[in-house]
Amino acid sequence: MFDFKEKTIIVTGAAQGIGKETAKGIVEGGGDVIILDLNSEKGEATAKEFNGHATFYKIDLGDCKNCREVINTVCAEHDKIDGLINVGGIISKAKFEDISDEEWERTIRINLTGTYSTCSEIYPYFMKNGGGRIVNVSSVAGKIGGGLLGTAAYASSKAGVNGLTKAIAKEGGKYGISCNAVCPSFTHTAMTKSLAEDKEKNDLIINMIPLRRAAEPYEIAQMILFFASDAASFVNGEIGDCDGGIVLD
Ligand SMILES: NC(=O)c1ccc[n+]([C@@H]2O[C@H](COP(=O)([O-])OP(=O)(O)OC[C@H]3O[C@@H](n4cnc5c(N)ncnc54)[C@H](O)[C@@H]3O)[C@@H](O)[C@H]2O)c1
Repeated sequence: MFDFKEKTIIVTGAAQGIGKETAKGIVEGGGDVIILDLNSEKGEATAKEFNGHATFYKIDLGDCKNCREVINTVCAEHDKIDGLINVGGIISKAKFEDISDEEWERTIRINLTGTYSTCSEIYPYFMKNGGGRIVNVSSVAGKIGGGLLGTAAYASSKAGVNGLTKAIAKEGGKYGISCNAVCPSFTHTAMTKSLAEDKEKNDLIINMIPLRRAAEPYEIAQMILFFASDAASFVNGEIGDCDGGIVLD
């Protein structure tokens, strides 16, 4: 649907789920994709599916130093990187009174600091190259104080991603760097498998979504791909809801 000819785009968390669908859309649009993920087995297998248009690198979004090293290596090993899409992340389902300090720290470290680390490392590269497009995958949870599955630590990490997105958009615009975020709601992936299998919880959540259904990963990917493409050339700092109508702002 979107044109990515002659573009090379990094996608974190692209071994499966929403990230994989995003990578697929880039390749279908004529581009090349750099798949970054913690899961080497799935990441390598996904890269193979894209017939020479994808390369896999292992990354741990929970390790700032590793993120910087991997982004540096990718930039050094490819002629040009045109965009960065941060999809990788984890859920935290603990009720507020049950969150341990470790769970809080890990959720913020992977979801928020991981996004910060990749953005921070590629930012000077984009400045030097005359620009680049960044898309961060957030969540409806970041807007409404906890989502349908993710609770306080998750919501806080994603609210942080929204703030970071706006700040990069504001500061990076003058260098041709755009930064936008997508906030999905309940989407059928490995992350929500246990929820979808619990009929009572599933029905409760579906009833909170005006479209009365969960999304499929490709539907979220469409909004990500729009923000990552030149079709969104004047869109910057937007926190886009892709949630079936939950957030009406
Ligand atoms: N599925 C939903 O309902 C939903 C809703 C709102 C937001 N989101 C967000 O969408 C994004 C993608 O989620 P998904 O549903 O496709 O989940 P998923 O679990 O299918 O995919 C997440 C990917 O991130 C990778 N990952 C996890 N920790 C990592 C780390 N430390 N370093 C590198 N990679 C790591 C995983 O290996 C996996 O490939 C996440 O940021 C999630 O918070 C999902």
